[in-house]
Amino acid sequence: MCDTVDDCRVLRKFFAPEFVFGEGAMRLAGQYVLNFGTRNVLLVTDPGIRTMPWFEEICTGLDDAGVAWTLYSAVSPNPRSGEVMAGAGVYADAGCRGILAVGGGSAIDCAKGIGVVSSNQDHILTFEGVDRVPLPGPPLICVPTTAGSAADVSQFAIITDERARRKAAIISKALVPDISLLDPLPLVTLPREVTVASGMDALSHAIEAYVSNASSAMTDLHARTAIDLAVRSLPLAASRPADLDARSMTMLASLHAGLAFSNASLGAVHAMAHAVGGLHGLSHGLANALLLEHVVTYNYPAAAERYGDIERIMGPCGDGDTHSLPEHLHEFRCSLDIHGTLRETGAAPAEIPLLVRRAMADPCMVTNPRRPTEDEIAEVYEAAF
Ligand SMILES: [Fe+2]
Repeated sequence: MCDTVDDCRVLRKFFAPEFVFGEGAMRLAGQYVLNFGTRNVLLVTDPGIRTMPWFEEICTGLDDAGVAWTLYSAVSPNPRSGEVMAGAGVYADAGCRGILAVGGGSAIDCAKGIGVVSSNQDHILTFEGVDRVPLPGPPLICVPTTAGSAADVSQFAIITDERARRKAAIISKALVPDISLLDPLPLVTLPREVTVASGMDALSHAIEAYVSNASSAMTDLHARTAIDLAVRSLPLAASRPADLDARSMTMLASLHAGLAFSNASLGAVHAMAHAVGGLHGLSHGLANALLLEHVVTYNYPAAAERYGDIERIMGPCGDGDTHSLPEHLHEFRCSLDIHGTLRETGAAPAEIPLLVRRAMADPCMVTNPRRPTEDEIAEVYEAAF
């Protein structure tokens, strides 16, 4: 729905990768590797995923398809540039010709980085920024195992510069995976805290994309659907972890949010969360959840109609009383047991000047609906402490 006819006339592009959605999707990994004309892939994952009961199915599927694979699982949460460079070394040594990423946003972002480094033969941090990747990576097939990051459909990779303790955003069409195999089965083994944090990441993607100054009629469709799905399914998935219907809905919410933000980009929530995450390595979804209500409070006057739409989509608050959108978002995250403030994550108010400088320089800030000053971002951080 366009607010006005003129809105639909604004020049916008929309890019989406191929994806397969539904039960059994991950079993297609071997077949899709062959479809891309390769028989030798680097399987990028994290140490926790390797122990999951369903992971063996993926490995067996590769073996049955006659695909040779080399495991690279030295990936930490908030993947570091050194892990990307080490992975690129393993990729070259094993003569790989494609990458299969199985995991959450960290494993997928690391896999994207390995692909970029392998094609362009330079350090991953040299590609930081927007449209700075000259050559696309090798074929990249993703099996996401969380419902939130949408790294499996987005043109974003966030890599930690471990020396400077900051996050580098790499944004390029070259980072969009070739295919994503979205299967709800891996979600049933997610711990509750990962379920709710990644779900709040998806909700933040959808809200930021909807109020972004680069939104379009097409991204609006996906953003609105994502908000509706996320607020209905996240509490269900948190309380009934083995419910495949609820898990599928959270995965669909994440997919819709990913299609929205990959094209409309994000805003101050992500810019500020990247700054905190770079310093303290806390969960990305948790950082977003703690900042979202405060950024909405700040942004609201600049996008009141859009936030009004979001209020209507979210529906009445849990207690039935009328609440402002920031209050509603606060109650929603508390209902998922995400309590507290940034202070409890290890961050310190004394760091605010550094956080502000980094948030202001983050590419996500460019599409925030309100153009902030440093002092204003400092005030938003103070509110979140
Ligand atoms: Fe995010």
